[in-house]
Amino acid sequence: MHVVAKEFASIKSKQDLAKILNTNLSDLLVLGGGSNILLTKDVDALVLHINIKGIEVVSVYENNVRVRVAAGENWHEFVSWCLDKNYGGVENLSLIPGNVGTAPIQNIGAYGVELKDTFISCEAMNIQTQELRAFTKEECDFGYRNSIFKEELKGQYIITSVIFELSSHQHTIKTNYGAIDSKLKNDGIENPTIQDISKAVISIRNSKLPNPKVLGNSGSFFKNPVISYSEFELLKIQFPKIPYYKVSETNVKIPAGWLIETAGFKGKTFGNYGVHNKQALVLVNYGNASGKDILELSEKIQEAILIVFDIVLESEVNIL
Ligand code: EPU
Repeated sequence: MHVVAKEFASIKSKQDLAKILNTNLSDLLVLGGGSNILLTKDVDALVLHINIKGIEVVSVYENNVRVRVAAGENWHEFVSWCLDKNYGGVENLSLIPGNVGTAPIQNIGAYGVELKDTFISCEAMNIQTQELRAFTKEECDFGYRNSIFKEELKGQYIITSVIFELSSHQHTIKTNYGAIDSKLKNDGIENPTIQDISKAVISIRNSKLPNPKVLGNSGSFFKNPVISYSEFELLKIQFPKIPYYKVSETNVKIPAGWLIETAGFKGKTFGNYGVHNKQALVLVNYGNASGKDILELSEKIQEAILIVFDIVLESEVNIL
């Protein structure tokens, strides 16, 4: 089902952005690709679609290059550009929907790699003053699906470009995320190139995650919850097969997909929306369901997970 925006503007340059911010009196909703947002009602705001384009190499070192990418570049097109030039570092992040400028906000991550691993800095415009400011990696304060732009500086800046550092010769190949390793073994690939990694990731993603252009979804709806070891030990008594990843000496991360599947929701449909049958962390819109329907389903899941496991699931998607 559609929702309606009060006003919409597609922004093609920093000058356009400064001009519109300077004269705008409405609330703002800033969109990159719009792939990580659930709209539950009409948007009483000026919607800005950041469509500033451009990729350029800014420095060349012996084994690295630094590349500046404008915020409106599509993420996967940037990854493909890197693979064509044989620049390594983002191949594990192949096929993630969305744009480059919004990727740092939630520190996108997949298959053992996060955006912060290749991030050097970004440039962002202050919404109030239209001043441009550079943010270093430290200043962005990246965490799991998090950054300063979702915390202290939420709603204050619009990212206009990002600088990444990529390897140009000796690439660090990251296959330690289970599914990549077994996919490469299956395909008989022993010394994978960054292009092989990208192909493996694309194939794994396609087998689990529905294409948002074909079947409405926002990827993982929830974050994987982090709990203490002591809580984990208790859960393990009741659920001996519970999977986990160690995140520190005191904490473990539990795959939310497993919790949702174990609570019985995987593949369940409710009219024209439901829980994806290949990855329970993804909520899907089969037809004309509304954002409200999806939100209600997510709340139902959160309640069930709290009752069954005593774990609070936080949404990963931005809900409006
Ligand atoms: N699992 C189940 N049932 C399911 C789904 C998952 O039991 O229906 C369990 C399995 O034990 C599996 C484990 O969960 O081994 C991990 O599953 P998967 O590799 O699919 O990853 P995930 O933890 O569910 C995260 C990210 C994804 C990212 C993948 C791969 C979050 C919230 N999600 O999912 O990111 O693609 O890892 O790295 O961290 C996204 O953010 O939108 C997204 C798709």
